[in-house]
Amino acid sequence: MLKIGDVELKNNVLLAPMAGVTDKAFRKIVQEQGAGLTFTEMVSSKALHFNDKKTEKLMDITEEKRPIAIQIFGSEPEIMGEIAKKISSKCDIIDINMGCPAPKVVKNGDGSKLLLNPKLACKIVEETVKNATVPVMVKMRSGWDENHIIADKLAKEIESAGASAITIHGRTREQYYGGKVNLEIIRAVKNAVSIPVIR
Ligand SMILES: Cc1cc2nc3c(=O)[nH]c(=O)nc-3n(C[C@H](O)[C@H](O)[C@H](O)COP(=O)(O)O)c2cc1C
Repeated sequence: MLKIGDVELKNNVLLAPMAGVTDKAFRKIVQEQGAGLTFTEMVSSKALHFNDKKTEKLMDITEEKRPIAIQIFGSEPEIMGEIAKKISSKCDIIDINMGCPAPKVVKNGDGSKLLLNPKLACKIVEETVKNATVPVMVKMRSGWDENHIIADKLAKEIESAGASAITIHGRTREQYYGGKVNLEIIRAVKNAVSIPVIR
């Protein structure tokens, strides 16, 4: 069975994190149906840093079936570390978003923009892992665009930085949510690391 760090899942059926979709009500239904792991919507580390109440509400997982992962995004290693420390007691796993293609996210260097900056991406993983007391996993895309398919190389570096699992969305940022999924890169990521790879 799938094991993410020390968290053993009861099955391999995972709810994909979806902003605007996987809220508390949605998660509860999926949990009732027996999912092995559910995820919150993505949560801004910077907004949490500034104690934004609306953002904090996205992480309300009280009275839900566990395990649950909170997905955070951001591009400042220190803030990601600070938030990892703060939320570790609330959840079972922390998931770092390196896949969001939305312009308002990438313009700040967050989400899929990190695929163009592997050094920073790894620093973020290192700081998050260092400060978290739960396993840390990373969600990424195949790359920024067709000319930057880097997921296999980055996955290896992210594993070395301490991540316990990787989820790969086999599309580039340029593809958003359409077009063909690159199954080759999913295979390459799987072959590149020894931690669990989820797709
Ligand atoms: C409406 C919507 C919102 C999404 N939001 C997130 C998100 O917040 N975090 C994330 O990691 N992925 C997000 N995703 C990506 C999905 O988790 C998933 O990786 C992607 O849809 C690929 O799976 P598919 O080929 O089955 O669609 C979102 C996808 C959709 C359709």
